Amino acid sequence: MDLRNIVILTGAGVSAESGLATFRGPDGLWEGHKVEDVATPEAFARDPALVHDFYDARRAKLGTVEPNAAHRALARLDAEWAGELLLVTQNVDDLHERAGSKRLIHMHGALTKGWCLRCNERFDWAGPMGGAAECPSCGTSGMVRPDIVWFGEMPYDMDLIDQALRDCDLFVSIGTSGAVYPAAGFVQTARYCGGQTLEINLEPSLGSYMFDESRIGRAGELVPQWVEELLQSAHSRPMSR
Ligand code: OAD
Repeated sequence: MDLRNIVILTGAGVSAESGLATFRGPDGLWEGHKVEDVATPEAFARDPALVHDFYDARRAKLGTVEPNAAHRALARLDAEWAGELLLVTQNVDDLHERAGSKRLIHMHGALTKGWCLRCNERFDWAGPMGGAAECPSCGTSGMVRPDIVWFGEMPYDMDLIDQALRDCDLFVSIGTSGAVYPAAGFVQTARYCGGQTLEINLEPSLGSYMFDESRIGRAGELVPQWVEELLQSAHSRPMSR
């Protein structure tokens, strides 16, 4: 089959080798917190200072880490792949864009964005946000929250992602445990619509049995290998435009 349209899903595992913690570590805590204490609208309503502190610390950490070989390989694929390509990340870090990926969706939002609950604008954000942040659009203070999709909220761009999954010839899942829907269900949509499916992860994910192929190991090693293979095979069998 001619391979033309690719959808790639990434999770916390792709950033682990850059030094960012994954969500479901052995202790079940995310940087010392239960996910429901920092990643739900209820947590923000109950204790906004705690939630702001948590995300301010995550945002500050971005300045201390760099994209790794997996991010760079995916950016190379984006630049060199002549067919359709969509990189969907669940990660709120900015390492894919810093590596150079362009065809990218942050389905769970981004640490580098803020959202004003007064005027509903979303905007770039650098540095601490805290509870008194002023909206650059309407000027209101204290109504800005991190533009992060919390549990119980709708991920971004689902229509676009769903269409890309239906149209894809290959779906690749990298560094995600497959524990959180709707992302964990992407493999089923791609399969159902006839796409090949590959997972690259440190261990078999929860939905591993749904993939045609699993490559088990570090993303920093396996993703560059896979990208090289894919580009080599495309060069030896050019796509018709
Ligand atoms: P998880 O922490 O659930 O899973 C990370 C996966 O990456 C695990 O299966 C690890 O085995 C794997 N992994 C770790 N290091 C790796 C490496 N070097 N190379 C390859 N794989 C590696 O993180 P996610 O699946 O991304 O949502 O979590 C999904 C969502 O749950 C997050 O986006 C977040 C969270 O709660 C929200 O905040 C809404």
